[in-house]
Amino acid sequence: MTHPKPKMNQQIPGFSSADIGLIQKNLLHWYNTHHRHLPWRESCDPYRIWVSEVMLQQTQVKTAVPYFLAFVDRFPTLESLARADLEKVLKSWEGLGYYARARNLHKAAQQVVQHMDGRIPHRFSDFKALPGVGDYIASAVMSMAFNQVHAVVDANVKRVLARLLCLDIPVNQSSAHTRFKAVADTLVDRTDPGSFNQALMELGALVCTPSAPDCGRCPLAHPCLALAGCQVSRYPLRLKAKKIPCHHISTGIVIKAGRVLVTRRKLDGLLGGLWEFPGGKRKNKESAEDACIREIKEETGLDVRIVSFLTHVRHAYTHFKIEMDIFYCDYISGDVVLDGPIDHKWIAPENIHRLAFPTANRKFIPLIDRSVISRKQT
Ligand code: ADE
Repeated sequence: MTHPKPKMNQQIPGFSSADIGLIQKNLLHWYNTHHRHLPWRESCDPYRIWVSEVMLQQTQVKTAVPYFLAFVDRFPTLESLARADLEKVLKSWEGLGYYARARNLHKAAQQVVQHMDGRIPHRFSDFKALPGVGDYIASAVMSMAFNQVHAVVDANVKRVLARLLCLDIPVNQSSAHTRFKAVADTLVDRTDPGSFNQALMELGALVCTPSAPDCGRCPLAHPCLALAGCQVSRYPLRLKAKKIPCHHISTGIVIKAGRVLVTRRKLDGLLGGLWEFPGGKRKNKESAEDACIREIKEETGLDVRIVSFLTHVRHAYTHFKIEMDIFYCDYISGDVVLDGPIDHKWIAPENIHRLAFPTANRKFIPLIDRSVISRKQT
């Protein structure tokens, strides 16, 4: 496979091509001596790099490492992932959040196996056409696995570039990404783009950190414009975030003959494909208990009564938070008729751990008292 000859770096105002050359040289030298030994850096296997970058797109390195190791142990090859049941894949992703990443990775693996002979495409546009592969993932995998010249831009890279060049565009403004990407494309090293991309991210993670950056150890201290102007703490600029709303949720552990009811969320949308205990949003002025009974009736068709309160759980998502009241409920009557969920199970408590649940549910699952479930119902 041949690749187009790397083009020369473009210019950045205020930086000569000698400056850009020095940035590349110093950054790569620093990376080669200081980088962390992370499991996805141990090989150039495009599948492992793909999995790692999908995880790292929304998850910190220290959280991602054990998930990555368990995932590639369970699904060591693209073929094994393509063959696996989606539920098993979601179980391996349980707790990482942003489950569309796992669903798309699974679907993409199936497409590569079915339509591309099981080989991850080398052409950027072919790879980017796969489910869940956007510019970031495509640039990361193509540069790190196949040494192609594509710059990656994540939050760490934006912070480093904003300081290095005193970029006055807020990092969370919608047009910011295109601007940062253009700058990163002008800087990326043409001979070792994969290491360069990892180096910029690594510098942001280890040295050019959000607070208390260690400029004394930074390989880019010269020619960092923010440092020269004593303005490191001013960058990156950020628009004030909106306050996120809070939803009050009532949830029921519905008990029938020693088993509990769990429902499966539809495959698209938030937490798609995961299992959960039924429930939903409380209405204005409605009590938590009434909301629990009403939501279970609407979602599952079952009539239940509240037995007792289990606990209260808080959880924050990216754009909202929830406060959840969880109740033990006894089944009274009705057959399950689902409105919303795509599946249900009456499950023995000892088997709950086999299914993938959202983190908000996993916060109360260990508190479930089996003696309440196994007691004789009246
Ligand atoms: N964040 C995103 N990709 C990364 C990588 N390859 N190494 C470390 N941090 C990252």
